[in-house]
Amino acid sequence: MRKRLIVGVTGASGSALALETLLQLAAAKVETHLVISQSAQLTIDHELGSDGVGRMRAAADHVHSCRNLAAPIASGSFRTEGMIVVPCSMRSLATMAYGVGDSLLTRAADVVLKERRRLVVAPREAPLHEGHLEAMLKLSRMGATIAPPVPPFYTRPASIEDLLREIVARLINWAGIDPGGQMTRWEGLS
Ligand SMILES: Cc1cc2nc3c(=O)[nH]c(=O)nc-3n(C[C@H](O)[C@H](O)[C@H](O)COP(=O)(O)O)c2cc1C
Repeated sequence: MRKRLIVGVTGASGSALALETLLQLAAAKVETHLVISQSAQLTIDHELGSDGVGRMRAAADHVHSCRNLAAPIASGSFRTEGMIVVPCSMRSLATMAYGVGDSLLTRAADVVLKERRRLVVAPREAPLHEGHLEAMLKLSRMGATIAPPVPPFYTRPASIEDLLREIVARLINWAGIDPGGQMTRWEGLS
């Protein structure tokens, strides 16, 4: 069976990271289940243009409406490796930290946590107040990997595309998928 992963996209800045995640997972032959929050549609339009949502949908194997709480990914009996939430807004972060499954995105994350599967969260906000930090700590204690999309400058990226590729490859790696040649691995100073 192909590995399955849920990709949650929220209204935080960083839509290009979400698209890159879907493309890398497709290249890794992972079956993706995409769920985009309502607010994310606005951010994606602004950052990637009016075809942004369409490009994401085309890169995914399955697309679920955020309002469809009867989708397969709303149940723990549907087997997946886990979920990547990229980019993750502070709103969705808080919702996940308190187990509020009020949309398919946050319900799917809650299921991944309760089933002890991998939840990789890429929160994007700066600076962070105590409430943001507390929500991250809470999620981390519940087993999530908190992975802000910080660039690995030691890979000497030459372009924004290089940065996106390296950041996303790490998210995928933490989700238990081998990113192959997309990720530069440190082998010491040469
Ligand atoms: C262009 C744009 C960029 C945004 N960037 C962020 C961000 O980086 N982090 C964040 O927490 N919210 C950001 N927001 C606000 C969220 O979209 C907003 O809080 C929304 O309610 C999040 O809902 P969601 O978690 O359901 O997607 C941004 C909004 C817009 C329009």
